[in-house]
Amino acid sequence: MADQNDTELGVIDLWPTKIMRRCPDGYETWNKDLIKLIRELERGNKKLTTDYLAPDLFNMDHPAVNWLRESVNATVIEYLSHLGIDYPVNWTITGWPNVNRFGDYHDSHNHPWSYLSGTYYVKMPATQETLQSRSDVRPGCITLYDPRPGVNMLAIKNDPYVDPEHTVLPEAGLMLLWPAFVNHFVHPNLSKETRISISFNIVLQWSDDYLPEQG
Ligand SMILES: [Fe+2]
Repeated sequence: MADQNDTELGVIDLWPTKIMRRCPDGYETWNKDLIKLIRELERGNKKLTTDYLAPDLFNMDHPAVNWLRESVNATVIEYLSHLGIDYPVNWTITGWPNVNRFGDYHDSHNHPWSYLSGTYYVKMPATQETLQSRSDVRPGCITLYDPRPGVNMLAIKNDPYVDPEHTVLPEAGLMLLWPAFVNHFVHPNLSKETRISISFNIVLQWSDDYLPEQG
């Protein structure tokens, strides 16, 4: 389809992958409550992290969850604004806690049937075990992969396609949000301390107003 209205000369930034980083106000206090809540939930369900039929965390009426829900909503609003979506959009949030102990990791995956996905970091280990590991291990990190496989094949120094991955070592209080189709991998936790995060999906409540205008 020709973009007949795009007559500007210069560089067009096509097919960007927008990833948002935010640190919601008040996280130090609320994280203490979230840790307590997640520990309690885990006592009732030992498979909390992997049980996809467990009750949705965001359905809870709990002060810390209510704060997190508001923070996620504010982040989504800001994200949509950056995309240029300037009309009303409705969504629901689904989410679940992840408790990673020593050696726990999460294989590369994406989040089907969601529009956006994200993670909020509640607690990150302060120490690492001294192991005979290789120097390139990145314990506790999350890596997001370029959704366009192979675009790095002929990349040269300083062009934006060199690195097919983006790796973050999160700190407690960080919220990341990305398009749900982006594959990501959670590196093994190599600490005896737990790594606790809350993953969430933004699922659109459909409206025909979302259909793009196509000529
Ligand atoms: Fe994920």
